[in-house]
Formats: sequence, C-alpha cells, structure tokens
Amino acid sequence: MHLTMRVLRRAVSVFSVICTSAVGAAAAPASEPQSGSLRTSQLLGDGWHFSKGNPRGAHEGAFDDQGWQLVHVPHDWAISEPFNPNNDSNTRFDWRGEGWYRHALDLPAAAAGHQVFLDFDGVMAFAQVYVNGQLAGGWDYGYNSFRIDATPFVNFGAANVVAVHADTREHWSRWYAGAGIYRKVVLTLTAPVHVAHWGTYVTTPHISANNAQVQIQTTIDNDSNTPQAVTVSTSIVAPGEAATPRLVANEVLSVPAHASRPLTQHIDVKDPQLWGPQSPSLYTAISTLSIGGKVVDTYQTRFGIRSLEFTAGDGLHVNGERLQIHGVDLHHDHGPLGSAFHVRAMERQLQIMKDMGVNAIRTSHNPPAPELLDLADQMGLLVFAECFDKWDQTADRMPYVDLASFGRRNIGQFIRRDRNHPSIMIWSIGNEIWDIEGSQDKSAAESVRMMAGFVREFDATRPVTMANHMPQSIGTGLHRYLDVISWNYGEKYVAGRAAYPNKPTWMSESSSGVSTRGFYQLTLPAYKEEFPAKPTLDSSDLNAVSWGDIADVEFTRIGAHRYVAGEFVWSGFDYIGEPTPYEQVARSSYFGIVDLVGLAKDRYYLYRSYWAPDAPTVHILPHWTWPEEQKGRPLPVFVYTNGDSAELFLNGRSLGMRSKVVTESLPANLAINTAATASSEQGQSGHAAKDAVDGSGATRWCASDDRAGAWLQLDLGGVKELKTIYVDFEKSIDNYQYTIKGSVDGKQWTVLSAKRDFSGAGTGLTVMVDASSRYLRLEFDQLKMGAWASVAEFEAYGAQIDRSYYGATRTYRLRWDNVPYAPGELTAVAYKEGAKLGSETIHTAGALVALSLAADRSEFASGGDDLSYLTLSAVDAQGHPHPEADHLVHLSVAGAAELAGVGNGDPASTDAFQSSDVRLFHGKAIVIIKGKSGPGGAIQVTATAPGLAPVTLELTAVDAKKAF
Ligand code: GAL
Repeated sequence: MHLTMRVLRRAVSVFSVICTSAVGAAAAPASEPQSGSLRTSQLLGDGWHFSKGNPRGAHEGAFDDQGWQLVHVPHDWAISEPFNPNNDSNTRFDWRGEGWYRHALDLPAAAAGHQVFLDFDGVMAFAQVYVNGQLAGGWDYGYNSFRIDATPFVNFGAANVVAVHADTREHWSRWYAGAGIYRKVVLTLTAPVHVAHWGTYVTTPHISANNAQVQIQTTIDNDSNTPQAVTVSTSIVAPGEAATPRLVANEVLSVPAHASRPLTQHIDVKDPQLWGPQSPSLYTAISTLSIGGKVVDTYQTRFGIRSLEFTAGDGLHVNGERLQIHGVDLHHDHGPLGSAFHVRAMERQLQIMKDMGVNAIRTSHNPPAPELLDLADQMGLLVFAECFDKWDQTADRMPYVDLASFGRRNIGQFIRRDRNHPSIMIWSIGNEIWDIEGSQDKSAAESVRMMAGFVREFDATRPVTMANHMPQSIGTGLHRYLDVISWNYGEKYVAGRAAYPNKPTWMSESSSGVSTRGFYQLTLPAYKEEFPAKPTLDSSDLNAVSWGDIADVEFTRIGAHRYVAGEFVWSGFDYIGEPTPYEQVARSSYFGIVDLVGLAKDRYYLYRSYWAPDAPTVHILPHWTWPEEQKGRPLPVFVYTNGDSAELFLNGRSLGMRSKVVTESLPANLAINTAATASSEQGQSGHAAKDAVDGSGATRWCASDDRAGAWLQLDLGGVKELKTIYVDFEKSIDNYQYTIKGSVDGKQWTVLSAKRDFSGAGTGLTVMVDASSRYLRLEFDQLKMGAWASVAEFEAYGAQIDRSYYGATRTYRLRWDNVPYAPGELTAVAYKEGAKLGSETIHTAGALVALSLAADRSEFASGGDDLSYLTLSAVDAQGHPHPEADHLVHLSVAGAAELAGVGNGDPASTDAFQSSDVRLFHGKAIVIIKGKSGPGGAIQVTATAPGLAPVTLELTAVDAKKAF
C-alpha cells in the first residue's frame, strides 16, 4: 500500500515505467523518459487477499477480507493443494473451482484527473473485476490479456478496493490450466490524452541492405471532454544505444472529445541492424504526446527489423537465408510452480531449449505470458504464436456465445498485444479442431476463413495457420484460407503438398516420443508402443505413441523433404496433464525432452547432437551403476554425439569404434508411384491402391470390407533385382496372416515371405529377399477380428537396407548393443571427420555418503518473483552421484528466501509440489527458492536425509529495486 502511494505521488511529476505495452516488465530496458509524462505503471504483486470459493459479498468495497490468505500475484491457487489420486482430469489436481482476490488501492488526491487502468495479463478464467463494489469489467478467455478502465469507479484521496472473481468450473482442458490471477497485474495511470492500450503498431514495409522504412501507427485516446490538438512525436533508438533518439517524426493530430484517432508516421533507418537468430537486434520507438508544448504521455515500443519469407519449395527464409526450424511445443505451466508466471522460470526454460539447438517455440495452444515474447525477442527465438486449442470451452467460449464476435474480440486482443514482437513469425487460429477438420460441411471451412480473416484484420504482415491432424481436412478446402499448412504427426505433408503445391508447410507437432528420465529397461523395447505395465518408460528413446514417432524417424523423413520448413517437437518440457500412456495413474506427461522440473532426459542430447552441430555433444546412456547380479551380463549402450564416430572404452579396454550410417547412401524405393491395383478399394474414404505407393505413411490403401483374401499388387514397370521389401501395415502385424509373392510376368508367382500365425508386433515388416521381379503381390490370408486388409506403404529396394523402424537410429546415434557390465568407468571418445571432438566418462557410484546441492544462480533478486533452481543429488566419497538414489530429503531455508516449490520429474508421483520434503527420483530432484519481499540478504538452504551427511548452500538475494 505504502509503496503504491509513494510511486503514485512521485509519478505526478516524474515518469516511472515498469512496463509499456509490447515491452514486458522484467525485460524492459530501463530508460530515462522525458519529464512531464503523466503515465505511471505499478506492478500489483504483493498485498492481495485471497479466498477460495464464493463468499457472499466478496465483491463489495466494505467486505472484511482480513481473515483471507495474503498472497503474491502471479498466483495459482490449485498448485498448492494436495493431489487427488481419484481425480480423473488427467492431472490428478482439483483445479476447478471459484476464487476471489482483493487488493486495496490508495490513489492520492494529487492523482485526480488521471485515467486509471488495471492491466491483467491472464486470469484463469472468466474474470470479473469489481472496483469499489461495482462491476468494472471482465474477460472470458483465461489465456488472454485484458484492460479494465477503472476511472469511473475510483476515488482519489481515499481508499479503493479491487475485487476479482476467477472461475474455472466451465473451463475445459486436457492439460493443467491452473486457477486464479496467474499472470501479472499492472496499475496504469495516464493523462486523459494518452497512447491507447497496445496503441502502437510498428511494421517495416521496405527493407534493403542500407535502408529500412519503419512505419509506426499510433492510436491516441482522448478521454477528456474537449477536442485536443496533440503533437505526436516519434523517435527511434538504435540497438545498444542509450536512449538518445536519433530519428524523429512530428505531427499534430486533432482528436475529438471521447474519441480515438490513429496516426501513421514513417521513419527511415539507414543501414539497419537486422533482427535474427544470431543477432537479435532490437530498436525502440518512443512516442511522445504533447499538448500546447507540455508532454502528457510517453510510451515505448520495442521492435525489430527483419524479413521472413515462407516459401512453398524451400522452407522458411529469415533475412534472405533458409533456416531449418528446430522447434519445440511448450505448454504454459512451470511444473512445481503451476501456472503462476515467473519470468525467471520462463527464461530458464528457453535457455535450456536454446542450448539444445532450438530456434523456435510454438506456444501450444494459447496466448503466452507477454514476457515469453520479450525473452524470445532478446534471445533470437522465433515464435509460432497460437491463440486457441479448439474454439469451444477450451477457449472459454460457452455454447451460447457466437463464434464471430468471440473470435474477433479474442483474436483482436491476442494480436494487438503482441504484433510488435519481431520474434513472432506466424499466427495460429487453432489446434486439431477435429469437428472443423473432419467436416464435409462448407460452414466448417467458412469458419476457418472467418477466423483467419480476423487475424489479417489486426496484422496483415504475418502468415496465418492452424495446426491440422486429419488428412481428410485436405478435402474440405479449409487450407485455401491458410497461408502455411501446419501438420501434426506422420508424413501428412506429402499429401498436403500434392493438393496445395504452392503453400508452405511444416510440422506443428512431431514425435510425441515418451520416456522417463533416468529409467533404463535391461532389454530395449522391441517396438515403439511397447510400454511396461508400471508407469515408468525406458529412457533409451525408442518409445513413441501410436500417432507419433521417435526423434530419429522424424529426422530422416523431414530431412528428405526440403520443402518441409522444419518441426516443432511435442514437447520441449514435460507438463502437468496428459500422462499418456498411463492416463489412469500418472499426473504429468512423458512427452518432454526435458522433465517437469527441467532436468534433461537422454533425448535432450540426441536433439542437441543434430540441432546444434557446432556445439560438441558426447553423451553416454544408460548410467553405469548396476547391481552385482548384472556383472558380465550385456547392456545396450548408446552414444549421442555430433561427431560421426566414437570409440567406447570400459575400464580402459576398447569396445570398438562405431560410425553413423549416412542416410544419403540409402537406395531409391523402386515401388514409389508405380502402378498399384487391388482386389477392392474402400473408395469413398479415399483409401485407394495408389495410396500404398505414394511415399506417405499418412495415407493408405484399404480393402472395401473385412474379408480375408484381399490383395494388393504392384507393377514395377520392368524386372528389377530386389533385396529388401518393406511393408508398413495399418495396424500391428499380429493382426494379419499374409503371403508376399514376386513374379516376372504376372502369371508365375514365387513366395518371397509368409506368416501363418497372428504373431509379431509393430506395423513395419522388413523382408530380406533375393529376387528378380516385375510384379509384387501382398495377399491377406487371415485377418483378426476388427482388422481389414490395409497398407500404409509398400516399398521395394535393390539393396539390403535396415528399413525396420529402428533402422534410423543407426544414422543418428552410435550403438553398442551388448556390452557385458563391469563396474568402473565407461568412456566414449567422439570424432568428427577424423579429428577428436570430445569425450565423456561415466562412473559406477560407490557407497553413498552425502547430499549435494548446486544452484543455477547463487545471486538473485528479492521480492517474490525471482528464483534460483537448486539441483539435489546424493553422492559417494568421490562425489559421483548415484543414479538410483531415492532418498526422502528434508529442506530448510533460512534468511532472505523461501521455498517456492520442489519436484523430481516423476510423472506418477503425487507428492506435493509445495512442500519442505522431496524424494530423489533416479538420483535427482529440484528445489526452487524465491527471494522474500524486502531488501534481500544472505540465504542458507540445508538438505538432510537419514544416513547421509547434510549439505548447506549459501546464496544471496539482492534488493529487487537495485536488481532491476
Ligand atoms: C496432439 C495435441 C497435443 C497433445 C499431443 C500429444 O494431438 O495437439 O495437444 O495432446 O497430441 O501427443
């Protein structure tokens, strides 16, 4: 309260900005504003009173909230509640409910005459905001930002109360949404004449090497009772320069009383410093409004100068150069912190991703916190900004609300807030909207046209897309209204491109590989969906869900098509919800390349080795601390490296050198686009014989009924020498008994392969043959109940190749499949083009003696928003961590910080995230601490566990006011 008053008093004469529109709070560069501006912005972080439920009269000014919990906003009320193992919501959390927040505002009498705004970055969900007992406004969609004009309801020189009702009961989600005011709230005061909310729109219509034309559209609101002649002066500050404006445009604009007027100005920037992944150069536009020579408002907008071109045949070009997208999908939660937004949690996520070689983020499936975009601007990350998952209650659109008004209103907020960020490369209007994608009704495609139109109304400079997962969407015509065709999973881009050869395309979701950090089965999975009964998945990166594929398979397929601009892997981090394939027992996902608390799974190094070719990566899996009975028994060892070969040594003895198989050397598929016929075709659904030889696993041939005896036949156009035949069936091969035959003339047939029982696993069948054939024929002799004769792809090669599903792993990893275990040291030495690239050694851990704590930052800010992440492990006398330690560790924090959350990345654990105890999971856990409000100071974090020496780590919280 006192803080608010102090800032407001000072504000009347001195400019003080915490955040301005497109530039977020923590990321905003401090700059000396022009004196006289009447704009102030004040974070409302501390001092909120919170109650769950719906207490009677909670909206009223005089309501007594002293018994309520005092909380810091951003706040997520659901994350601190215990898990409910019986909750079937996919998260085991009871996040549905109602809650109230109340905050007192002292507006000094001297501030009278100002406009008073409350800016919310996100309230989950259906926010209703009351000021002094009166409903001042609200917003439905929990992921969108909104402004409340509190001016008509406030009293200057007296007490005021803001009360916010949040209600998640009608919000739908298949992941953890969180609950409450989970993003920041800013109190903004302006003069009656001011730059409108998100009132600048900066574009760069012409860019050449020595000049960029910058266009700035500024909307001015006149909330006074008289018309005003406003001088709008815009200046541009170059990257890295102090706030000395170099280029200025001045114009006078007449704005009638209670009206809004836009003004467009142009400024030429000579020799522009382009924004791009390697050099994220940021300019700042400063808009100054004056009336009669007196400054009434200044407003900053950060922007970048860059060109982006999505091409149909050659992927994405950034500033004229092709950039392969190495992207990840990210949900909005931050593990143990829930959905309560912390800039540092986001920054850490992005740093971890960038270190892996990520150059793009998809904000699946919602508008992100604005600070994510500030960080992406600064870090040179490109963003696929998505507005909605579906257009139903996952977007807080109730069935009685019409799509047109809802869509325009919410898309408008989404785009106007963010359109100045150079990092944003594309806007998405939705994800896997099955009732639109699967509908033959014209109105479905019309809705896509309408929603895409709303995007173009607010920003015509970027393309519009939507993430599709159903190949039949191609037949609906909806893609006509999208600029880029985005596909989730498989090779749907092959059929998409055939239908729309002039549209750029990429994978908005790929992989959906699944694994648990640190767990290794002794026998590798035999096929991608071989999942153990207990909710723990092997970490050797051979498992994926039915609709997805392991990383290596995606690398091979995408690498073969230059027109595919790249991929966004589902998902960068694990998230709360969707614990596929253990939906019944677990509470967070297995999809992440990194676990829920930010600890890298092995896959991290597989992606890094391919995506960051210049950063040396040498990573060995599994760990090397196995029980006595394992001695002498074989273990599979993989090395992930950006080298092309490596030698493995066990206790100094070489286990041989391995080299990656180079994919370019794979021979051509002789069956592609050959003449294919079949006993019957499930014609209406489009499953024709040609779909089995079109090079796409996303399309398939299917017989017209479920009878056995159906066949598929290919004519290779001439007699060919065949060494490998590969068939990708629709279902796993235990559903079929079959015969594969070859013939020179189509009359005399030789059996090449046959299966006479319902055995086997996986959909792919590789048959090594030695045949001369022109015709190939696959006969379905018996079918299991429910399985029809159906083939996704039939391939034939003139050389012996490993076309099995896991064949691709030999191109991207180095494998020693049977290494007899002996305790000690395992070392991999990697080479690139003959030169040593680097090495890694892993050790067998001995008896455990102590706990260990390591901080990612030993200095951080006080105030409740900044964080330090500590990694906890248990070590032997040599300091080697034990990979299977599972101790329950007790934590205490003394001094200027407190615990913000704990976790260990176990997707099946229902231990509380907000606790002073945490169990090590496969040897590790994460402890998150945050600086308390106040001036900061020394901090001691102590971890204790029975039988181990405790550890104390000393850290420092610096005064937030000095830190930022
Ligand atoms: C996609 C969906 C994502 C996530 C993913 C898991 O189909 O768009 O939100 O559910 O599957 O594989």
